[in-house]
Amino acid sequence: MSVKIGNNIDLGEFPLLLAPMEDVSDPPFRYVCKKNGADLMYTEFISSEGLIRHAAKSKQKLDIFEYERPIGIQIFGSDIRSMQEATEIATLAKPDLIDINYGCPVKNVACRGAGASLLQDIDKMVAMTKAVIKATHLPVTVKTRLGWDDHTKNIYEVAERLQDIGIQALSIHGRTRAQLYKGQADWSLIKQVKRNPRITIPIFGNGDVDSVEKAAAWRMEYEVDGIMIGRAAIGYPWIFREIKHFFETGTYLEGPTIQERVHNCRIHLHKSIEWKGEKTGIFEMRRHYANYFKGIPNFKEYRMKLVSLLNVIEIDEVLDEISSTFEEVA
Ligand SMILES: Cc1cc2nc3c(=O)[nH]c(=O)nc-3n(C[C@H](O)[C@H](O)[C@H](O)COP(=O)(O)O)c2cc1C
Repeated sequence: MSVKIGNNIDLGEFPLLLAPMEDVSDPPFRYVCKKNGADLMYTEFISSEGLIRHAAKSKQKLDIFEYERPIGIQIFGSDIRSMQEATEIATLAKPDLIDINYGCPVKNVACRGAGASLLQDIDKMVAMTKAVIKATHLPVTVKTRLGWDDHTKNIYEVAERLQDIGIQALSIHGRTRAQLYKGQADWSLIKQVKRNPRITIPIFGNGDVDSVEKAAAWRMEYEVDGIMIGRAAIGYPWIFREIKHFFETGTYLEGPTIQERVHNCRIHLHKSIEWKGEKTGIFEMRRHYANYFKGIPNFKEYRMKLVSLLNVIEIDEVLDEISSTFEEVA
């Protein structure tokens, strides 16, 4: 059965979502993930205060492209009025949905009353969500965690209360705020939320899915409507197509050849330059090379070149060299 968000967003059966990731899930990265089968994607989180002040960095994150649809803009903040205004601004960018971040654990977000901090004050979370829903004609979704800490895992209640006021889907990262990214994600509470007979909106599981095997096992075990993948897609956007292939055929797809790795990496680089300008595009691409070429023996010399060159023609030449040198190794 097809998973739907609101009346209009049809994600097909068991969708795979690209998680919002600051400094990662920008348009160039989203391009390669979309090409490899991501069914729903989100922008990096955008500060509501930044949007209201028209900060350049926040505004730039509103850039979305037709081929990315369906796409959600994710916003965060601590002030209800600001969130409402930010929703109005984000709506003008014409995404398919607005997502609220109630999961970010980092200090300068969660300790300033935004992100996961709202898990400590469900009444405020409900009021904020209501204000966001009122400020847009688009479906509103939420991404959050199990709770603030081990003693306050309140996701069951959060899910009911947010659904009651009209959110259209919920993505749950199977950790608490206190856990940050440590330990293992625990999806058992996600399953309880999904099994709650009152819950009718799609529930997406998130946290630690990094292989076809895990996606298949956790789909069965935790009964979620879809899976959201973050870190495992960095440098490996093929994870989407591999999981999809397995669900469609029951067989494993071969991993990417070295040529495919080079090809994707090159597209990512060029999209990066197109969107950010040559200098920033080249600079910000540096964090991705190690991931694209993970596991290739004796790669250091090439990586050093990739992360130090300043000229796109030279970087392209190194990529050509990688493609021919490692042809047989792959
Ligand atoms: C570098 C990085 C940036 C992130 N930025 C965001 C963000 O902007 N918004 C958000 O909701 N979650 C953010 N997250 C959390 C991810 O969306 C996801 O919940 C988390 O990484 C767990 O999923 P994974 O194990 O598949 O990576 C970020 C995570 C990482 C690693």
